[in-house]
Amino acid sequence: MESDVVAASVHVATLSKIFKPSAPTDDRQLFRGRAQQLSSLVSAMQEEGQHAIVFGERGVGKTSLAYMGMAIFGIQAPDGIRLRLTCGAEDDFSTVWQKLVPRLQQFLDTTDDEVRASLAGTIDRIEDMFMDAPTPESVGRALHLLASRAPLLVVVDEFDRINGYAHGDAFADLVKQISDDLVECTVCLVGVADDVSGLIAGHASVDRSLRQIAMPRMTQDELSEIVTRGFQAFGERSGYTLDIDASAVSAIANLSQGFPYYTHLLASSVGKRSIYANEHVITFEQVFDALMQAKDDAEPSIKENYYKATIAARSDATFDKTILACAMAVPDHLGHFTASDVRPPLEELLGVPRRNSDFNAHLKRFSSEPPYILESTSVTRTPRYRFRNPLMKPFVLMQGFASGLLSQDRLSLRDSNEPTNQG
Ligand SMILES: Nc1ncnc2c1ncn2[C@@H]1O[C@H](COP(=O)(O)OP(=O)(O)O)[C@@H](O)[C@H]1O
Ligand SMILES: [Mg+2]
Repeated sequence: MESDVVAASVHVATLSKIFKPSAPTDDRQLFRGRAQQLSSLVSAMQEEGQHAIVFGERGVGKTSLAYMGMAIFGIQAPDGIRLRLTCGAEDDFSTVWQKLVPRLQQFLDTTDDEVRASLAGTIDRIEDMFMDAPTPESVGRALHLLASRAPLLVVVDEFDRINGYAHGDAFADLVKQISDDLVECTVCLVGVADDVSGLIAGHASVDRSLRQIAMPRMTQDELSEIVTRGFQAFGERSGYTLDIDASAVSAIANLSQGFPYYTHLLASSVGKRSIYANEHVITFEQVFDALMQAKDDAEPSIKENYYKATIAARSDATFDKTILACAMAVPDHLGHFTASDVRPPLEELLGVPRRNSDFNAHLKRFSSEPPYILESTSVTRTPRYRFRNPLMKPFVLMQGFASGLLSQDRLSLRDSNEPTNQG
């Protein structure tokens, strides 16, 4: 039976609203797992003088968690104000807070006239306060003023992009001030970091008032749930039943390596393929058929860096196999590996014995020449490497499966409960 292209396109559009790798999720039905982190965030919102800092790797779901926090805040305080300020590389403390008023106006555009009218004067006063570059002092006063009118939650996202250290303790000072003054608002900082000390200077001085919420990679079960719940929601919303068998779910979860970003990317590619082919069951093999497309849809910077790093200047060089072996190497808990860890998988890929000296130059090149896809540390004399962008490793593995260098049974045979919380 020939599939109806228009109907298929409508279904694909529905699927794109469910699996959207490049956008955080604000859909309560689709948000999975993270119970502990969410409850920690919610309790910080409820306690006076408590604020929060959410940190973890890129693509683990920090912004989505913040959105859920905002949604819960909205339910508990329907008349409350919830704002999200996004930091850019050009920003500093004061330019971030300069965004408060425009954001506030944007938020008020969607509320009713009464609320808007009641806050008009407040906004004017904040604008006056911010005529000079905002300081922790003036921001504290502005938040106080706002919070006296309505419950307030401010999320400051992509906090890592503005090098918190270059601006000294300004953010810590702000948190300290609004916490000591018992300003009835919650500030939630969100950023990429291994730990809080990598994100905010002076954090020790606000330890008690700043709830630390670490976002680890997601477990196999949580990722599987994103897939099954997503396809279930798709069925309910589109009327097109698309079942996915257990081996396909676990292949997607395995390939994702703890990152919901890849779960969305893979589920979206395989789902679209099936809809266009007018099929109703997704199998293990189809996940692999969709890998090529998924790879093409991956973040451009990851793709470009991969190709730049593996294009061999000399035709006999096998950079793609070396980097794949790096992705297959068993790392320590922080994601580090040494040349000796890379050798066994490399021998397996090449089918011949190797010495470390045969490929040390490759590792060196990956870590010392642009695009620097590895970073090296040498505490001891043996250099240790890790992927600079953790999202690169799943991409390299996907590339390996797509090119046939890795055989599919590697995934089907793996224990699906294997922890993925390692680099
Ligand atoms: N708990 C979750 N349940 C379902 N999907 C999630 C969850 N957390 C994140 N995602 C999805 O993963 C991707 C990356 O999430 P995002 O919040 O943007 O990560 P981060 O801000 O840490 O980079 C997005 O596609 C998002 O929809
Ligand atoms: Mg984010």
